[in-house]
Amino acid sequence: MLREEIIYILEKNRGEFVSGQYIAEQAGVSRSAVAKCVTGLKNEGFPISSVNNLGHCLDIDCDILSTGGVKAHLSDDECCTVKVFKSIDSTNTEAKRAVVSGLTENAIFAADEQTAGRGRRGRNFYSPDGSGLYFSVVLHPEVELADSTALTSAAAVAVTEALRAATKKDPKIKWVNDIFIDGRKVCGILTEAVCDFESGRVQAVIIGIGINLTTRDFPAELENIAGSLGTRLNRCELIAQIFQKLKAICEKLPNRDFMNDYRRHSLVIGKTVTFNRNGVDYTAVAKEIADDGTLAVITDSGEEIRLNSGEISVKLK
Ligand code: BTN
Repeated sequence: MLREEIIYILEKNRGEFVSGQYIAEQAGVSRSAVAKCVTGLKNEGFPISSVNNLGHCLDIDCDILSTGGVKAHLSDDECCTVKVFKSIDSTNTEAKRAVVSGLTENAIFAADEQTAGRGRRGRNFYSPDGSGLYFSVVLHPEVELADSTALTSAAAVAVTEALRAATKKDPKIKWVNDIFIDGRKVCGILTEAVCDFESGRVQAVIIGIGINLTTRDFPAELENIAGSLGTRLNRCELIAQIFQKLKAICEKLPNRDFMNDYRRHSLVIGKTVTFNRNGVDYTAVAKEIADDGTLAVITDSGEEIRLNSGEISVKLK
């Protein structure tokens, strides 16, 4: 599609002029077709400057999510489906719909806004327009269902490292998969699997990532916990970086090497935590996180308990 091809070329050369002739040659169309399409992009709101004899330049601060924009930051051999929506119910739900309808390649679904963003434990994920990054990655790893839960921890590592590089801040992982900066949750991750019922084989894993970039005025119930990075980032680039890190970890998932990074970025190890198990409230000190993602804690009475992310959520004291 010409529109995406032009965005792709401009994004690859963000902040620099690219001649209409070059774009026309790359896209295999006439210069006038390029000019017409660029005008259309400007009308959509893309900050593009056009100068005679120089060509077209995408503003360095452009913050528009687009398929071409994401693809410009992926290498050719990372070919995957990329779909971008202005507004959607939930990128995870959309990804699931696509898998059920036969999607077999890796894919990224991203949106400016989610009207029914989903969090863990059936909660909503607040996803207002224009201030966050909401996307889902679909991968098809050769893993058992039990193994696919490790992808949640892998995603936490991928996001933490990408945010650290992009912001120079100090993001930390709160077991199991929330990312905190300066004591506030700035990112949540929801991993879901689509399985073949008869064989029990994992058909696809959907890793949904929601990052608050500049979101303010959170709903009352989130006021004391949620926060934002407080800065705009190139969302297309960030999606591609997280996708690449995630894919790299995923390819070596069985060796669990990424768990060393997970432990390094952990917010909970050594901290006092509270949790409720079988109706009993406990206070404990978080001791270690095992390669299978379980959290070992030592309770007040000296008992060691291993917590499983699926059954329990911990609070930092
Ligand atoms: C949580 O904090 O409980 C997990 C939140 C996960 C939110 C992301 S945003 C993109 C994707 N689509 C969804 O509906 N949820 C995930």
